Amino acid sequence: MLQGRHLVDPQDLQLTELEDLFSLAQRIQKDPLHYRDLCRGKILATLFFEPSTRTRLSFEAAMLRLGGSCLGFAEPSSSSVAKGESLADTIRTVAAYADMIVMRNPKEGAALLASRYSSVPVVNAGDGGHHHPTQTLTDLLTIRQLRGSTEGLTIGFCGDLRFGRTVHSLAETLARYRNNRMVFISPQELKIPEYIKNGALARNNIEYRETDRLESVMGDLDVLYMTRVQRERFFNEEDYIRLKDFYILDNEKLKNAKKDLIILHPLPRVNEIAMEVDADPRAAYFAQAKYGMYVRMALIASLIGDAAC
Ligand code: CP
Repeated sequence: MLQGRHLVDPQDLQLTELEDLFSLAQRIQKDPLHYRDLCRGKILATLFFEPSTRTRLSFEAAMLRLGGSCLGFAEPSSSSVAKGESLADTIRTVAAYADMIVMRNPKEGAALLASRYSSVPVVNAGDGGHHHPTQTLTDLLTIRQLRGSTEGLTIGFCGDLRFGRTVHSLAETLARYRNNRMVFISPQELKIPEYIKNGALARNNIEYRETDRLESVMGDLDVLYMTRVQRERFFNEEDYIRLKDFYILDNEKLKNAKKDLIILHPLPRVNEIAMEVDADPRAAYFAQAKYGMYVRMALIASLIGDAAC
């Protein structure tokens, strides 16, 4: 039962609750009109202290498709945050106007803090380089739909594994499913954090490798999760420029890949997947973005919708 709960970290959801969300998302996708009044009269607040296209708009589209309404800001300079208002006061105020808050913030831990001051459910839409739990819902639903299962897979994470919050949330969650193996492909400076290796991976006895060579592992992968280098988290531009094109996936690099590989990317893409790959049937990143809306519909419905679903 998710009614009224916060979602700050993917670990807030049990595997059975994830399954319930995915099966509701699938039902919604099949017959969206059946759910069009589930949130009639409810208001979703989207508070984005960092840029977004997919997360904010898919949440807003999801709420509108459930019959609810949206308010919020996409740019904190248009709110009283610009006058120095604290996050705690902003949240207490918005919680008086809305039934649920979706927030993205550049500071790690901001969503947890918001949840402590909110009288309505808070959903973390990304807190710095830490977590992005609804991207994980999106990724898992996509894998489940296109591969039939989220177990027994070899998943390659490629790119900025240090700052990429989508990688952190997805790796920790896939580690909770049976028999998954992981390959972390990154330059030395952008390796997956130790806390993930010593935490979720160790706890779940996950077999994993680290390499900086994508081509050397391509043929082993069932899922390739590409990511962009997170310019906004770098301390200097020089390092970003040196690392930003370290990996560019193109048709040549996919020559040894499995026929049933799926290529995911949370998006936005910068240079790390050549446009020519978009025509490859294994490229699933735009389908992934669409699944994101259905799973967010399922999440909103489960947190604040009329109990019917
Ligand atoms: N995947 C993702 O979080 O995209 P946006 O930054 O566009 O929301």
